[in-house]
Amino acid sequence: MNRMTRTLGALALSSALMPLGNAQAGEVEVLHWWTSGGEARAAAALKEMMVAQGHTWKDFAVAGGGGEAAMTVLKTRAVSGNPPAAAQIKGLDIREWAKLGFLTSLDDVAAQENWNQLIPPRIADVMKYEGHYVAVPVNVHRVNWLWVNPEVLARVDAKVPTTLDEFFTVADKLKAAGIIPLAHGGQPWQDATVFEAVALAVLGPKDYSRAFVDNDMDVINSAKMEETFARFAKVMSYVDDNAAGRDWNTATGMVIKGEAAMQIMGDWAKGEFTAAGLTPGKDYLCAPAPATSGDFTFNVDSFAMFKLNNEDNVKAQKDLARTILSPEFQTVFTKAKGSIPVRTDMDMSDFDACAQDSMDAFRATAKTGGLVPSFAHGLANTSYVQGQIFDVVTNFANSDNPDPAEATDQLAAAIQAAL
Ligand code: GAL
Repeated sequence: MNRMTRTLGALALSSALMPLGNAQAGEVEVLHWWTSGGEARAAAALKEMMVAQGHTWKDFAVAGGGGEAAMTVLKTRAVSGNPPAAAQIKGLDIREWAKLGFLTSLDDVAAQENWNQLIPPRIADVMKYEGHYVAVPVNVHRVNWLWVNPEVLARVDAKVPTTLDEFFTVADKLKAAGIIPLAHGGQPWQDATVFEAVALAVLGPKDYSRAFVDNDMDVINSAKMEETFARFAKVMSYVDDNAAGRDWNTATGMVIKGEAAMQIMGDWAKGEFTAAGLTPGKDYLCAPAPATSGDFTFNVDSFAMFKLNNEDNVKAQKDLARTILSPEFQTVFTKAKGSIPVRTDMDMSDFDACAQDSMDAFRATAKTGGLVPSFAHGLANTSYVQGQIFDVVTNFANSDNPDPAEATDQLAAAIQAAL
């Protein structure tokens, strides 16, 4: 049974979805940045399900991990009065777009489909503006992961590091053996993704939140932040010299091919391992980023829905929102994407070990306080504040002579200026 047949079979079982041969077929134009191997497979699942309902899918893919390029293109389209039906917009930026009057209410679909019961309240809040749903959550990514090629670690007789000091010891062994310890791409959002994992390790979830959610200067401008920068510099010293501009999935490819041992990256990296036909626990390992095992930096993908004039297209847009939260889509998509479902009622027994670990950690950290939003992926602040942080972190990462005290001052000044 191929994937299309499976998808159609799943659709036939779902009462929530429209039957085939939908009389009111429309077009949905969907802006996203899912262009890597794993991401594209995941996006294709959504397209297939929309097409199966009779709608036309207009793909508006703008390449570039983390979505910076996609957001620039979206702004141009929106300003010229021609936004797509749906755009991958995340976190606090959803509210910014809603405030400007671009987004439409999804309250009717949300009420019919019981979204308030299906989605964790903390995530539902992010999808709403002034109490109305204007976006639909797609999935939950855990960002603080370490991806490991076990065969490469075995070459130097090393175990998966669980603390930063262990990471440095393992990385030194790998370096001495002529192996690249850490696969990385020198792009601002990737630098920030690694910085965020180190910040969580050094600060712990409480101070992480005080710094990056509450913008508390006592933590931002502190000795602990200096230590974060110092440790970040050391982590980055294990990256090879050719990292500048490298895409994240190319870096994942280095781990897959055994050219590098590890990567610190969100679980969209798992989509690459999955697309390569590899099995977790055997061909590759997923482990919490060093010293963050009790924590979970969450990154929720979501589609914000724009105001449209054409009635058929509005219908297609609502079907898109409905489809995204259907159990069938949640399963097919999150397996390909590397994430976990955003619905709380899903049976995880059929998911791989990394996804099961992720769901366990998601549930556990929601109770312990270890669940924190990813600032590198726009869940903790607006893209404006995020951009300020990225600049400081990237300049520091690229400096020949990185100075943690100076970077801490710069971070404080940059965040202060953006508030
Ligand atoms: C994240 C996004 C993920 C993944 C990643 C790399 O910001 O939430 O879905 O695509 O970028 O492109």
